[in-house]
Amino acid sequence: MDKLLVHGPCKLNGTVKISRAKNAYLPILAAVLLSDKKIHLKNIPDLQDIKTMIKLLEMLGVTVTRAGNITTFDASTLNSHEATYDLVKTMRASIFVLGPLLARLGKAKVSLPGGCAIGTRPIDIHLTNLEKMGCEIHLTGGYVEASVSKLKATHLPLSFPSVGATENLMMAAVFVEGTTVIDNAALEPEIDDLANFINAMGGKVTGIGTRKLEVTGVKELSDVRIEDVNPSHLEFVIELLKEMGGKISVGDNFIHVEKSVLKSCHVDTAPFPGFPTDAQAQMIALCTQVKGSSVITEHIFENRFMHVPELVRLGANIVLKGKSAIIEGEQKLNGAPIMCTDLRASAALIIAALCATGTTEIQRIYHLDRGYEKLVDKLATLGAKVERVK
Ligand code: UD1
Repeated sequence: MDKLLVHGPCKLNGTVKISRAKNAYLPILAAVLLSDKKIHLKNIPDLQDIKTMIKLLEMLGVTVTRAGNITTFDASTLNSHEATYDLVKTMRASIFVLGPLLARLGKAKVSLPGGCAIGTRPIDIHLTNLEKMGCEIHLTGGYVEASVSKLKATHLPLSFPSVGATENLMMAAVFVEGTTVIDNAALEPEIDDLANFINAMGGKVTGIGTRKLEVTGVKELSDVRIEDVNPSHLEFVIELLKEMGGKISVGDNFIHVEKSVLKSCHVDTAPFPGFPTDAQAQMIALCTQVKGSSVITEHIFENRFMHVPELVRLGANIVLKGKSAIIEGEQKLNGAPIMCTDLRASAALIIAALCATGTTEIQRIYHLDRGYEKLVDKLATLGAKVERVK
C-alpha cells in the first residue's frame, strides 16, 4: 500500500486547477443506463470510484470505449440487472444503478451497500419511495431485489433530503407516464448536474435548484450535440427552428438539440444574415414532418426546387407556386429510389430518408461528396442506419 510523507511546515502559494467532482460524475455515469443511444462524456475524472462505477456498468453489459479524453457509453447492450456484492462493497454509490435499471428494465438486483467509514447509512428513503412508485422490493441474501411491471408517477415527499435518494428517484422517474414530484429534494449541486444531464439526454426534469423536483416522463431519450461549429453563422436557422418549437441550446462551439415537437414556418431565403438558400432544401424536407403547412420562398436562385419531385416520390405533399413551395406537414414518408439533384438537395433527401419507413436508395451521391465530408460516418455515430454501397 502506498503512503504519503508530508514535510511541514510549508506555505502554500500559486494557482491550482480543481478536478471534476466525483459526486457529480457517479450518478451521471449511472444515468447512462437510461439511454439505448451512445453517450459521449468528456474529461471523466481519473478516480478509483469512477473506475469502479465504469466496471459496474460494464458488468451490466454496457459497452465502454475510450478515444482521447472522450469516453463513450453504449447501454443498448445492457444484458444484466445485477450489481454484485464484490463491487458494491467497495463503493456505496453503486446503489445509483437501482433507479435507472428499474426505469429501463423494470427489475434490479443490487447488493445492499452496508455500513462504511462514515457510519451506517441506510437506504430506506430510496426503497420506500420506489415502493410508492409501484415497485415490489425484497431484501434477501444481502441484496435488494426490486421489480415492477409499470412504474407510476406519484408524489414523493422525502423524510430527509437524501442526495442519493433524490438522484435514484429522479432517474427511476425518467420514463414514467405523468409527473413524479420529489418533495424535500436534496439541493446539493450534483443534483442539478444530474438533472441537467437527464434533460440533455432528452428527459424532462423541472424545478432544478429547488426543493421540489418534477420529473415528467418521456417515451424515449433522444438528443444530438453538434460540435466544432460556430453557432453565430447559423443564427437565423437556429432562431427559426426555436420559433418552430425546437429545443436548441448553443455554446461557443456547439449546438445542442433535444427531441422536440415542431410546428410549421413561413420563411424566405435572403442574403446573410437572412435565411440561407443553402438551407432551403433541408428545411423543406423537415417541414414534411412538422405540424401544419409551411411556405418556403426562394429568392436567391431560380429553379432551386429540383429536390421537391424527389421528396414527393417518398410521399411528401409539396406544391410549387412560382418561387414558393407549400409543404404539408405530418406526412408519412416511405422509402423509394430517388436521385440527388444538387449538393444541398442531397442533404435534404437524406433527412427525408431518415424519416421514411423502409429503405431509400439515393443515387448520384457524387453531389453529396462535393460538399459533405464523411456524412455517412457522422450519421452512423448518431445511430442512423445508413450505408454507402457500390
Ligand atoms: C452523498 C455523497 C457523500 C456526502 C453525502 C451528504 C455521493 C456519492 N456521496 O452521500 O459524499 O457526504 O451525500 O452530502 O454523492 N439516509 C437515510 N436513509 C436513506 C438515505 C440516507 O437515513 O435512504 C441518511 C444517511 O444515513 C445520512 C444522511 O441521510 O445520515 C445523508 O445521506 P445522503 O444524503 O443519502 O448521502 P449519500 O447520497 O449517501
